[in-house]
Amino acid sequence: MTSNDDSTVREPAVWRADMVRALRDQDAIVSERVSAAFASVPRHRFAPDAPLEVAYDLHRTVPVKKDEHGQDISVMSAAHLQAVMLEQADIAPGMKVLEIGSGGYNAALIQELVGNEGMVTTVDIDRDIVDRARQCLDHAGYDLVKTVLSDGEAGVPGGAPYDRIIVTVAAWDIPPSWISQLGEAGRLVVPLTVRGTTRSIAFDRDGEDLVSRSYRLARFVPMQGEGASKERKALLREGVAVQTDDARVPFHAKALNSALDTARREFWSGAAYDLPDELELYLSLNLSSPARLHASKDVVDSGLVEASALLGVPALISEDSIAYRTRRENEDTGGFESGVVAHGPQGEALADEYLKLLRCWAQNHRRRGAATIRFLPGPASSSLPENSVPKRHGVVAVSWH
Ligand SMILES: C[S@@+](CC[C@H](N)C(=O)[O-])C[C@H]1O[C@@H](n2cnc3c(N)ncnc32)[C@H](O)[C@@H]1O
Repeated sequence: MTSNDDSTVREPAVWRADMVRALRDQDAIVSERVSAAFASVPRHRFAPDAPLEVAYDLHRTVPVKKDEHGQDISVMSAAHLQAVMLEQADIAPGMKVLEIGSGGYNAALIQELVGNEGMVTTVDIDRDIVDRARQCLDHAGYDLVKTVLSDGEAGVPGGAPYDRIIVTVAAWDIPPSWISQLGEAGRLVVPLTVRGTTRSIAFDRDGEDLVSRSYRLARFVPMQGEGASKERKALLREGVAVQTDDARVPFHAKALNSALDTARREFWSGAAYDLPDELELYLSLNLSSPARLHASKDVVDSGLVEASALLGVPALISEDSIAYRTRRENEDTGGFESGVVAHGPQGEALADEYLKLLRCWAQNHRRRGAATIRFLPGPASSSLPENSVPKRHGVVAVSWH
């Protein structure tokens, strides 16, 4: 039977039970509470136009609204990511929870978790999304959830303090409102973008600071409004782009583009390449002049840029040169070896720095959860801690174990 045939004969409840089983098998759901919430909420009611196999796919988002360039600005997030974040949030009955970025489905899951004694508020910057979420919530029987139209950058002060704040849009920073509206023992779960790469981070308070309890790879549409990121991006040529959010990085698009036309040199680290998301975080935070290189499939197929750049790869750039990560099979171990591709007059020096990091990570930090991420609110001091990234409202500082 094809999956199309499937959707015409299978009841939504059967799709839902399969989804919950698969989320448990993949360790996205690990608690009975989150499992029960996913088993209760009719996900398809929040994606009425999507076929059931799409609505109940673990890893697919469901488009809700696009901008004038056809880019998604609102989607129903993938069930897998929602499960991971709700586990990170560790929500208990009776809690007060604020969700930033609405859609309805995730708020309904949270309502299941907090029960009738708890309180769920969801805020979105887009009136269409708030209206749609309200309608879906009411139709599915979740009229207790409060919907608010506002820029989530300011939080929702009326309902504070919150036991949990869950951000479901990629944030470039942590505004003071989220910290001040978080209760003393509260937890903030936020997909924070640092140097172009995003992790859903569960932060608890540590004095004036926030400290990570867990972090997981996450992809989200970017935040709009006051908190929108102000990254520098440049299209070097059709299908090749670089971006950086670090003001200290030299950014000469023309010279970088010319570098790509110079000889391509490969350097191999002799170190293992695996746990790509952990390695990516380490590289992004430790490169001295970091950017992110993106290439389209056509460019990769042409051989100009490595496949590592298809989803964006940490790059080390100077005024006129670029180095970025690649990999090759290691026949001895059956795994992969990491390496560097470099272009431009300073390519070899950049590759040298890059290789040192690849080796250091493989030797010392090659495991899940090796990073502890802190957010230090307030103006950045002149002497930043090592591996730290200044933001508008504070500093992200990362240590490796
Ligand atoms: C991935 S969707 C949210 C998914 C949703 N939580 C669900 O249940 O699947 C991200 C949402 O964030 C919203 N958004 C973007 N910037 C925002 C901001 N500054 N404040 C509040 N919402 C924002 C977008 O309008 C979009 O609807």
